[in-house]
Amino acid sequence: MSELHERHRRVIPNWVALYYQEPLELVSGSGSRVTDATGRTYLDFFCGILTNMLGYDVPEVREATARQIGTGVVHTSTLYLIRSQVELAEKLARLSGISDAKVFFTNSGTEANETALMLATAARRSNQVLALRNSYHGRSFGAVAITGNGAWKSSPLAPFSVHYLHGTDRQLPAFASLDDAGYTAACVADLRHVLKTATAGDVACLIAEPVQGVGGFTMPPDGLLGEYAAVLREQGALIISDEVQTAWGRTGEHFWGISAHGVVPDIITFAKGLGNGLAIGGVIARGDLMDGLPGNGISTFGGNPLSTAAASATLDYVLAHDLQRNAADLGAVIISGLREAAAPLASVGEVRGKGLMFAVDLVDPSTGAPSPALATKVLEETRERGLLIGKGGLYGHALRMAPPMTLTEADAKEGLGILADSLRAVDAAATR
Ligand SMILES: Cc1ncc(COP(=O)(O)O)c(C=O)c1O
Repeated sequence: MSELHERHRRVIPNWVALYYQEPLELVSGSGSRVTDATGRTYLDFFCGILTNMLGYDVPEVREATARQIGTGVVHTSTLYLIRSQVELAEKLARLSGISDAKVFFTNSGTEANETALMLATAARRSNQVLALRNSYHGRSFGAVAITGNGAWKSSPLAPFSVHYLHGTDRQLPAFASLDDAGYTAACVADLRHVLKTATAGDVACLIAEPVQGVGGFTMPPDGLLGEYAAVLREQGALIISDEVQTAWGRTGEHFWGISAHGVVPDIITFAKGLGNGLAIGGVIARGDLMDGLPGNGISTFGGNPLSTAAASATLDYVLAHDLQRNAADLGAVIISGLREAAAPLASVGEVRGKGLMFAVDLVDPSTGAPSPALATKVLEETRERGLLIGKGGLYGHALRMAPPMTLTEADAKEGLGILADSLRAVDAAATR
């Protein structure tokens, strides 16, 4: 064990997991590549969990950050006007499609979701929340309470009454034979049944990730969340789209993940990629919802001059370079290449994804059961071959990939080649 790893284990909680048998220390980066403390360089297809959205050392973001640091002021607090915060809020409100939108900035996705839940429960005077099975919305008391993935449930206590809906579990025996339309109809019928028989009326909201991040990039059929919204709006319940992983065009087809469902939500939460590594999250909501909280509220660090300067530069870059289009184009190349590579491999299950957000399930070659052990092997194998990827899924058996949205075609092909070779190597050993 390295000296740093040993020190890490002594002072960092044991529930903060590290990737790899010999964990990596990344010390520098440029473009789509990072270099570790031993000097080895990797192509990065996970980007600090989708957070280095433009890759590393992007001049526009670096300069915006340096300009702000150069003023001598990186923090003032929300007690004062912050020009970069107001400008960023104006851009996000416009992009959200939400009418009369207002924006509240936080430091993380967790805080963003806490705020969204506070808005919805206050507006509806109800603590009844609907979430999806296999969901992950953060690590705080409230966020854990709406997490539908047992591996991330660090407390059984809850400020909400929560019901979990179907939507990303069509592999279950009850649904396995259904096509998209049949599954969608079954899910909507179940929602109506839950509303009628299991809730105490007056549900506050549904919160959902359009593509589940920690859940292994599992997703509902396009349109399902829109159908849920139609039913819920009959009784005034609100729709929160957790776009912490799916925003900014990453899914290729839309700027917001939920747009695949033909609905504009009442509330959007975001974080991760917006600051290209600087801590920023937030909530976009209809003005009446945002203004409807009874008490005072601040976020000391939320929306500070430094993170909002970096975020504005990042957002401008995404829009000016049409990175959504890049995500659509290169995502399609990689996903179809992965499907082709996976077809003959008995230990590879589903390949799924949208844009530059794609996953591969590893399964036991003889039983077809989820195989977290094989997924771990592929993670090590790709590292050996110079590619960083992620892992997730309800059973820890899904490889998750989310390269920088600035990815070049050459990098896409290189990464695809390493992934395919690694899957083949692990499959050969598993089926020997
Ligand atoms: C969909 C989703 N929501 C919320 C969060 C929590 O964000 P944070 O870790 O910034 O608190 C995450 C983090 O992985 C996430 O993937």
